Amino acid sequence: MHDFKYKNKELYCEGLKIADIARKASTPFYLYSYNTLLGHFRKLEKAFSALKPLICYSMKANSNLAILRALVKAGSGLDIVSGGELYKALLVGCDPKKIVYASVGKTEEEIRQAIAKQILFFNVESLSELELINRLACDLGVNASVALRINPDVEPKTHSYITTGKLTNKFGIDLDSAYDIFKNRAEFVHLKFSGLHMHIGSQIIDGAPYILAIKKIIGFIKKLKKEAIDIQYLNIGGGLGIIYSNEKPQTAEEFAGKILPLLKSTGLKIILEPGRFIAGPSGILVTKILYIKKTPLKNFIIVDAGMNDLIRPSLYGAHHDILSLRKAESGKRKAEKFDVVGPICESGDFLAKDRQMPELNEGDYLALMSAGSYGFSMASNYNCRLKPAEIMVKGNKFYTVRKRDSYLDLVKKDVIPEFLR
Ligand code: LLP
Repeated sequence: MHDFKYKNKELYCEGLKIADIARKASTPFYLYSYNTLLGHFRKLEKAFSALKPLICYSMKANSNLAILRALVKAGSGLDIVSGGELYKALLVGCDPKKIVYASVGKTEEEIRQAIAKQILFFNVESLSELELINRLACDLGVNASVALRINPDVEPKTHSYITTGKLTNKFGIDLDSAYDIFKNRAEFVHLKFSGLHMHIGSQIIDGAPYILAIKKIIGFIKKLKKEAIDIQYLNIGGGLGIIYSNEKPQTAEEFAGKILPLLKSTGLKIILEPGRFIAGPSGILVTKILYIKKTPLKNFIIVDAGMNDLIRPSLYGAHHDILSLRKAESGKRKAEKFDVVGPICESGDFLAKDRQMPELNEGDYLALMSAGSYGFSMASNYNCRLKPAEIMVKGNKFYTVRKRDSYLDLVKKDVIPEFLR
């Protein structure tokens, strides 16, 4: 499934011993396997090959330029959510006709830029946004393509923060309102209604909610057909879950097996927008144990990575498996429970709680697994900490694909006004 494996009790990424990289690069750092990244993209491509879908990797999961470039070179399009993501997508040479743009809060400036680049389409999330895109396209003297993001009101059974397809969520347009928009489409002179979009949530490990949502959308497409309204695309979003601990998510083939017949029946060109499925398993966060601290009530492993580097445990209570770069001798000591915590001045700064850990020493390296998605992309400089480096391994070589922040990076945009000098 991924290229992080023990060989002679040492954790390797592809052909390299990670501890050797850790001794050269300062910790913490993210480490990506090129082979795992491409492998997951190909897995999805293969599972859906009967439909030849356009896969638009959701770049919010990990927008390092090397990751984007690798996927774009492999034929991927990109799902973007901001002007910054459009900028990066174009920088890595993504064909604008493979870019789709979602977000409930696109600004005028962002919309103008994307219209000017003639992206494949906007995934439109409200009537007001639709009106704005129409007006801006008119100003620019061009037409813009849109897909309506449908909120199908289904329960994806995932964390509430990453549930996006229920009517209580801010995303998308309910089916009745979408129908009214399609009926009044002639009012939007500068828009081409290309398709429908849905994205019901993230880290979904079961096909059932997708089937439910797609069935609702198929009913809607039939209703449109009766009105002689034709569309070309159905974008089913992302959301495919991965393994963090003992989940048993559907494989790409199982997922495709369940939904391919439904998708085929639409006769539409299919778009997928996975982020986590592609980037998640291909990355880890490598950190060093600074101190082991035992109190009368708790044991703490204090590491040099914190919630600013990987916020998922603090924000969602998310579990990431933690491996020692050197596998402990089994049976040497009874495994004890520890909180693995960072250096940040908050009790919410933890990477694991009450985790059974093998025998470890100060100075040992640990790897937080499945951290390639929503890891670095959600990192911050909180506590004036330097954002970690990002390193990519391909075969027997490693490449720094983003340098660790410097102290200068922390201050270069701050300005002390004249009156304080
Ligand atoms: N398409 C749209 C419109 C999205 O909003 C998202 C993710 C995706 C695609 C990709 O979803 P994926 O395949 O990665 O599940 N920070 C959270 C995840 C937030 C997901 C936001 N939207 C986490 O760390 O779990």
